[in-house]
Amino acid sequence: MKTLGLLLVIALALAGSLAVDRNNFKTCEQSGFCKRLRALKPEKSQYSLNLDTVIVHGNVLTAEVNTVDTETEKRIVLWNYALKLSALVDGTFRVELDEADPLYPRYRTMLALDGEPKADGLKLVSNEKGVVTVANSQGHKVLITAEPLRLEFLDLDGQLAVLLNGNSQLVVEPLKVKEEGEEGDDNEGARGENFKSHHDSKPRGNEAVSLDVSFPEADHVYGIPEHTDKFSLRTTTAGEPYRLYNLDVFEYELDSRMAIYGAIPVMYAHSAKRTTGVFWHNSAETWVDVVNHAEGNVVSSLVNLVTGGQKKQVDARFMSESGIVDVFVFLGSRPKDVFRQFTRLTGVAPVPPKFSLAYHQSRWNYNDENDVRSVSENFDAHDIPADVLWLDIEYTDRKKYFTWDAEKFPNPLEMVANLSAVGRKLVVIIDPHIKREAGYFLHEDATDNGYYVQDKDGKVYEGWCWPGSSSYLDFFDPRVSKYYAERYLFENFPGTTKDVHHWNDMNEPSVFNGPEITMPKDCRHYKPPQDGHDGLASFWEHRHVHNEYGLWNIRATQQGMLDRASGQYRPFILTRSAFAGTQRYAAVWTGDNAAEWGFLAVSVPMCISMAAAGISFCGSDVGGFFKYPEAELMTRWYQAGAYQPFFRAHSHIETKRREPWLYEPATTALLRDALRRRYALIDYWYTLFYEHSLDGLPVMRPLFQEFPEEEDTFTIDDHYLLGEELLIRPVVEPGVSSVRVYLPGKGAGALWYDVDSYQPHAANGYFTQDVNIAKIPVYQRGGTIIPRKERVRRSSALMANDPYTFVVALDADNKAHGSLYIDDGETYDHKNNKYIYAHIDYEPSGITYSFVNENASYPTRSWVERIVIAGIQAPPKTAKLVQGDKQTALQMTLHKGNDVLVVRKPGASMAQPWKIVFSY
Ligand code: GLC
Repeated sequence: MKTLGLLLVIALALAGSLAVDRNNFKTCEQSGFCKRLRALKPEKSQYSLNLDTVIVHGNVLTAEVNTVDTETEKRIVLWNYALKLSALVDGTFRVELDEADPLYPRYRTMLALDGEPKADGLKLVSNEKGVVTVANSQGHKVLITAEPLRLEFLDLDGQLAVLLNGNSQLVVEPLKVKEEGEEGDDNEGARGENFKSHHDSKPRGNEAVSLDVSFPEADHVYGIPEHTDKFSLRTTTAGEPYRLYNLDVFEYELDSRMAIYGAIPVMYAHSAKRTTGVFWHNSAETWVDVVNHAEGNVVSSLVNLVTGGQKKQVDARFMSESGIVDVFVFLGSRPKDVFRQFTRLTGVAPVPPKFSLAYHQSRWNYNDENDVRSVSENFDAHDIPADVLWLDIEYTDRKKYFTWDAEKFPNPLEMVANLSAVGRKLVVIIDPHIKREAGYFLHEDATDNGYYVQDKDGKVYEGWCWPGSSSYLDFFDPRVSKYYAERYLFENFPGTTKDVHHWNDMNEPSVFNGPEITMPKDCRHYKPPQDGHDGLASFWEHRHVHNEYGLWNIRATQQGMLDRASGQYRPFILTRSAFAGTQRYAAVWTGDNAAEWGFLAVSVPMCISMAAAGISFCGSDVGGFFKYPEAELMTRWYQAGAYQPFFRAHSHIETKRREPWLYEPATTALLRDALRRRYALIDYWYTLFYEHSLDGLPVMRPLFQEFPEEEDTFTIDDHYLLGEELLIRPVVEPGVSSVRVYLPGKGAGALWYDVDSYQPHAANGYFTQDVNIAKIPVYQRGGTIIPRKERVRRSSALMANDPYTFVVALDADNKAHGSLYIDDGETYDHKNNKYIYAHIDYEPSGITYSFVNENASYPTRSWVERIVIAGIQAPPKTAKLVQGDKQTALQMTLHKGNDVLVVRKPGASMAQPWKIVFSY
């Protein structure tokens, strides 16, 4: 019945226009703690610091915080808390506030951080007149006012940059023993809440936490993905807060603050003067209110009332259902600094296998081995490159993961070998729900060994997902993560080889019949044995860990994929749910979108926001998952996708097939062109991801990251930069013959070269760019050099030894710089210095290709085929190549009104440094 119902809904949705069923998801009013906390208006904070207890030791300040009865004159202590302020390297502080002696340990999020954060020095500056002042080794000061408690973080000029509890919204609800007769099933009930037909038993009662953060002088705040709203966050006073709760939202809507698949509680505040940020380290359901005091429509702004004018400040408030207050403060002071400060804590994405940056062809489903073969062959027949074919859930034996449907996929090894022969890979889906079927080894093992998540009574939890009745592995138990990782070994998953990679979907987790389509919050997860490990202290509830469930899933997958190849090959994993730290394990896509222009458009702000939150490897289902994209939309989506990090076409099982050759030949030609543009830049993408692994910065970046003082860029989220080099403004509207493009850097005299014509544009804000169906606006920044590979191949692997073309776009000083990363594309040998990371520097006197790390090398057979120099004012007369002790005279030609110089066939090997010397 259930499946039938679902199919009916799907069929209806596919026929008509799509709409989310909002009734399935809570509003703040319907979420007990959100309603409770949001009702607390700013007034005098109940929390105060006990000045006598302040101790500064190492990089940490500890002190006791009390809540006091503010009603009476006398200071009656109601509850005790432990405050910890740690100074961390790179302008970062951490503030933790937990109950001093909680009834049960409160959950501390476990996997988001990439190891213990590194300590900085901390010294006590003063403790007088009710204010404790400390400073880190860089000189950032923190002022802690005792009564009421507030924490002020000052920038290096001594100005207030971030303020905590300035609006007195700090709350840590203490855990309390359930009193006799205490029940309460309404939404505010401390001992139980209902939503639709679901009852949440809340065995520990209320345990919410909240904190307000103020960013003085900020123009905008950004971050807290995943939402379909603008990149620059809006004031929430008049509506719902932004919600962070990993959910499988069927037909999610646009322009919304509703929670969807991912939840990354990091927020950045920016103005021309400074950039700061906070990371709310909490994996429970979280709601975030934002008040931008500079926005005209802020009704409830107290500050405005008091000052009588518009004050530049953004206030935010984080509210979580459980956990402790654990917040990292980033003092920037520039966008690049805060983005790096966040990835220093949560990690960077490791260098991905190169194929994963190329094109992926997916569909729910490629039906059988013949289908896979024919799709792969059709790419070749139509001269269209592709690196990866994907298999969705139907490849399995009736949704039993780690098995194959023996009729449709009788010889998976042969199928994989056929793909491998042309450098292609296969990705197969593995979801975390396990079919409850007698005889299914995974279900039997899990049942016998107690590997499943338990329900509120300690029995195995049963939910409904693709296989029907399912249970869910409890990855929090190290035995389970180990067991699960082992399923990915080649011997345990016959039919897979090193060329088979994995897709972990539905890992919010999605439970079709659960509250809000996920797991009940009172389900039980493993908790390591420790003191007082009994009763309610012997397990974590799902409510504590929900947003990091998926992280545990992909972590075990990655471990398995490393182990299956003895740590030799880099795994590729795609995940749908995301949390802080996901980038260490997997790429992310934006889930089940639709073939509509609005979903194409929103893919840009969604992925920029993800990238700022650490996850650069992001993309959307190209073409749209639900519905069918007509030619124009499909063309624009491929053109946009070609410049987004994760580039995969995917579609719903009930939609019409839409591989590139199934369109009219003219459209197929346009799709081919978009794909070839991606492949030409494959080494550029690879270099960008290598550099991300070094500096942790977004690959796909907002304009203000590079132009932090240019106010017009602060709200632009339909353009973005790739690295520092390319500016992309995809066409996301139908039937247009021109679009408005913003070129930043006017003050700096920036030049931007149209990549199609090499025509330079001086940066001057907005201008109108003509487009046609073959063109999307892409510009290379003057002063940069981009590597290209222009030969057409079937897959990126077959391009490994192809020659390079370097496109040099000169700046106003006739200079340019670029970089290039080369390795074998698939192993970890780069960790043993088998790679080339080179700088390419252009000066009027010549071009130098030099190795950043001279101890590293890689025996590439690639060479330099061509160097295109755009924007050349006074071309040199002669050029000669110097490599080793060889010198070769080179030929050059001038093109296009004499401003593009092409150095023809330099022939230099990329395995050794070289230089080209010009004479005039
Ligand atoms: C989910 C995924 C989608 C996939 C489908 C079947 O809806 O988001 O990409 O095709 O499940 O596995």
